[in-house]
Amino acid sequence: MQAPIGIFDSGVGGTSIWKEVVKMLPHESTLYLADSANAPYGEKSKEEILNLSIKNTEFLLEKGSKIIVVACNTATTNAIDYLRKNYPVPFIGIEPAIKPAALQTKTKKVGVLATKGTLSSSLFHNTSKLFAEGITVLEQEGKGLVELIEANKVYSVEMRELLTTFLNPMLDQQIDCLVLGCTHYPYLIPVLKEMLPENITIIDSGEAVARQTKTILEQNGLLAPETYRPKHTLYTNKDVDILKSFVDVPDCEVSYLDF
Ligand code: DGL
Repeated sequence: MQAPIGIFDSGVGGTSIWKEVVKMLPHESTLYLADSANAPYGEKSKEEILNLSIKNTEFLLEKGSKIIVVACNTATTNAIDYLRKNYPVPFIGIEPAIKPAALQTKTKKVGVLATKGTLSSSLFHNTSKLFAEGITVLEQEGKGLVELIEANKVYSVEMRELLTTFLNPMLDQQIDCLVLGCTHYPYLIPVLKEMLPENITIIDSGEAVARQTKTILEQNGLLAPETYRPKHTLYTNKDVDILKSFVDVPDCEVSYLDF
């Protein structure tokens, strides 16, 4: 089926997932929606996050998406149950990767950096309880990080200062795994690598989400034919140049959308 894979996030962060999807599914067209005008979602109420997720989903469905990837931990943990119940396409979500971290940690201490909206959700708590038995999970709100990434200030002094404040308490507690529980945060990996001791494993779920998208497309007979030449269309309701700077895949079209 040649219809596109619809992907949305509160902003540019979900392109970290979009890139994995494009890499793993080279014959699929994609439609990406960056709701940057409403970022950050992480500080909003559950109801606001749900309403924005509904709006994004309906836009992507109107444009003919055959599946929707919610490339946002905050939207997934607050809205995916509702979306799955109310729309007739498969939904793929993303949640902080507690399970792989719990399997890998030797110190039995895992740090999770995520938004307030994710950390306060019942889905996150249930996952944490289910997979992290016997493990201490140190939760840290990444307040302010998304705003800096949205402003293209990944390598700024403010970013390093914020990260130092967030990481130090977790390092003092001897974490050896750091879970990136927000799709904006993979863009911080180069900075994090400079700042963190070598024994800390950074874990994110981008590749797992792309693999799951592939599996669900296969199971539903929705894959595009291998002869299909895909098209990638990205929309933002804020700054086209900033979104473009996060996207380095050839043959994609980035445009402004009054949304
Ligand atoms: N990229 C998002 C996430 O994965 C949302 C961040 C935000 O807008 O606060 O949670």
